Amino acid sequence: MKFRETLGLMGVGNMGQAILEGLFSKRMVTGSRVWVFDTILQKAAEFSKKWQCRQAKSNAEIVKQTDIVILAMKPQDFSSAMKGLKSVFRNRQTVISILAGTSVEKIRREIGPRPQVIRAMPNLGVKVGEGITAIATTGVKTLSLQAARKIFSGCGKTVELEESYLDLVTALSGSGPAYFFLVMELMVKEGVRQGIPEGQSRLLAVQTALGAATLAASSSQSPEALRQMVTSKGGTTAAALAVLEEGKFSDVFHRALEAAVERSRELSKRQPPA
Ligand SMILES: NC(=O)c1ccc[n+]([C@@H]2O[C@H](COP(=O)([O-])OP(=O)(O)OC[C@H]3O[C@@H](n4cnc5c(N)ncnc54)[C@H](OP(=O)(O)O)[C@@H]3O)[C@@H](O)[C@H]2O)c1
Repeated sequence: MKFRETLGLMGVGNMGQAILEGLFSKRMVTGSRVWVFDTILQKAAEFSKKWQCRQAKSNAEIVKQTDIVILAMKPQDFSSAMKGLKSVFRNRQTVISILAGTSVEKIRREIGPRPQVIRAMPNLGVKVGEGITAIATTGVKTLSLQAARKIFSGCGKTVELEESYLDLVTALSGSGPAYFFLVMELMVKEGVRQGIPEGQSRLLAVQTALGAATLAASSSQSPEALRQMVTSKGGTTAAALAVLEEGKFSDVFHRALEAAVERSRELSKRQPPA
């Protein structure tokens, strides 16, 4: 499972750090084969010291030194980060981008025809090794796909889909953690409102979410079947779910997801042309 290739990270932020930390923790890569660069030199310096990896002096050095380059800066910083690098990229190199709303076509325009390009959409769960990353398979060669699978399995699970699904994935799993945070937030607030101390309300809400997610992940039954299983006729759960349906919760949630997809599409269009 260990990488034979060298890895480079451009953008040592929340996501970039989490992805590499997953690989380091699972000993899938050794520090001497990893280069990192961030415009905030201090950030890259602290990270490279912690994980005993190499701090590059520039993004150009990352491209020169590594076989697999992970792009993890903000989308709006992408074009300037790629300035002057087109001639530095090589054949048989793989570029893996986690940039939201930045198409393979747009990336290709900046980096030129030589490397393989893969888009992936991880989510916040990568910070605790429980991310879900959608890897876009459109036009990708097997070796690059294997590299992407390996990288993202270091910090969670993966699914493989056509690139055209990435706006939907952004709405479902990219933004998804916030939907569950909202439910937990509302449960904590209700507990506190009715007199349970905040710490205990929080434990009740968060552990409930964790238990439900763990059960759903380990069960062969669908979330719908699990919900039906815990909803006895005339019981408390049924009373709560009936109020949610009175408020047309399914319909509202459906519209919320549609709004997120639409916003993801808008943001993709709005980025300055590469
Ligand atoms: N957060 C999520 O849940 C999530 C989910 C899926 C995908 N993503 C994608 O992941 C990417 C990173 O997100 P994040 O939350 O990790 O952002 P972040 O914490 O802001 O990390 C980005 C890092 O890149 C640095 N940077 C800026 N310009 C650069 C350049 N030219 N070369 C190298 N590094 C540069 C930034 O420095 P400055 O602070 O100085 O700009 C910052 O340290 C984004 O493209 C986002 O769309 C995020």
